[in-house]
Amino acid sequence: MTDQDRSIDFLVRPGGALHGRFRVPGDKSISHRAVMLGALADGTTEVSGFLEGDDALATLAAIRQLGVTVEGPRHGRLRIEGVGLHGLQPADGPLDLGNSGTSMRLLAGLLAAQPFDSILTGDASLRRRPMRRVTEPLAQMGARIETGPEGTAPLHIRGGQALQGIRYTMPVASAQVKSALLLAGLYAEGETWVQEPAPTRDHTERMLEGFGYPVERTGNWCGVGGDGSLQGGEIDVPADISSAAFFIVGASIATGSDVVLEHVGINPTRTGVIDILGHMGADIEIRNRREVGGEPVGDVRVQARPLHGLTIPERLVPLGIDEFPALFVAAACAHGTTLLRGAAELRVKESDRIAVMAEGLQAVGIHAEPRDDGILIRGGRIRGGAVDSHGDHRIAMAFAMAGLCSGAEITVRDCRNVDTSFPGFVDLAREAGLDLSVLAAGESR
Ligand code: S3P
Repeated sequence: MTDQDRSIDFLVRPGGALHGRFRVPGDKSISHRAVMLGALADGTTEVSGFLEGDDALATLAAIRQLGVTVEGPRHGRLRIEGVGLHGLQPADGPLDLGNSGTSMRLLAGLLAAQPFDSILTGDASLRRRPMRRVTEPLAQMGARIETGPEGTAPLHIRGGQALQGIRYTMPVASAQVKSALLLAGLYAEGETWVQEPAPTRDHTERMLEGFGYPVERTGNWCGVGGDGSLQGGEIDVPADISSAAFFIVGASIATGSDVVLEHVGINPTRTGVIDILGHMGADIEIRNRREVGGEPVGDVRVQARPLHGLTIPERLVPLGIDEFPALFVAAACAHGTTLLRGAAELRVKESDRIAVMAEGLQAVGIHAEPRDDGILIRGGRIRGGAVDSHGDHRIAMAFAMAGLCSGAEITVRDCRNVDTSFPGFVDLAREAGLDLSVLAAGESR
């Protein structure tokens, strides 16, 4: 049986509105980091709210293969017996990271600094994604990593290299690159400093500090020294704003909707989606703001309101980088034109999100013009039809929400990977009011 045979499609019937109070699953970025840093800490780390999605589970499986004992997950709880910075053991074979770019790039940094060799691989999508953005600066630190000729996985990491700290200016704003270098920097001689061209998510820096590891931040630079240690503790993973985004968009576009999303991570390096929708006229209120384990959290209330198109400010792009598939659906339902530029990174995500979203929007009757580094979308009437998510979880969920504003059924093909980031999406979306069915691939053809 091929992957395609095992695949599923979504069938969304038009109309409806979203209602209720929900907590979406745990933050993917924070879940990856909790497992990695918990493993490197001295002592035990207890995690709650861990995302039991395939991507974070791939990191967990890799960490276990590296000799770390972890109990769970059970209802989002993990107990990690930290082995200390120098306690990882060689894996018994390649580490298969599935669809997860974050696992591969962060582990590349961590494993480049170990005394043993490692091999990192993944699914067909991950094996197409650019890895030189981490292997090149790591090589400047003294790491030895072989990639395929196109700079792609599998990565063969030669251990036993003495790493030196560097000062590195990232050509693209990438939290994954920054985090890979900081993780390698924990083992390097001297200090490792990374400069970002625009602010990116800072969960690694916050969590290192939470584990008692000093991180210096000045302007757009952050740096770590080698030779420290991490102390295990407790981590409460907030709900993932990137998963909440589908409900935030859905409730904004479906007349009569009113939802509250509880305990959402609202770290300012992640809230671009709320800011962009706010500029489009959305009615979004953050209540009960609090801080949990070094990360800001709040309850997000969204009520439907007519949206208008806009030119998206480029500075917001890295702050909402994963939410553009959902935002493009909002733009399709808005009055007027939305223009996005400065977002070429979207072309190297789990799919080429500019091409795949443009193709999908056109298939349901929306005028969408892809650009090298963005897209132009003219708001209009979604008329239903069939779209292909190309195995991209966020594109599948974005088009599921498009059903709320559609004049006819939408079939979304190849939706299995929704489980990489949002296990339980279908049940939660139905409970909220979306008329969504799951079909074995091909059943609807
Ligand atoms: C992530 C960073 C982002 C994001 C990805 C998760 C992270 O990638 O798109 O889903 O956890 O660090 P880039 O930093 O490469 O933009």
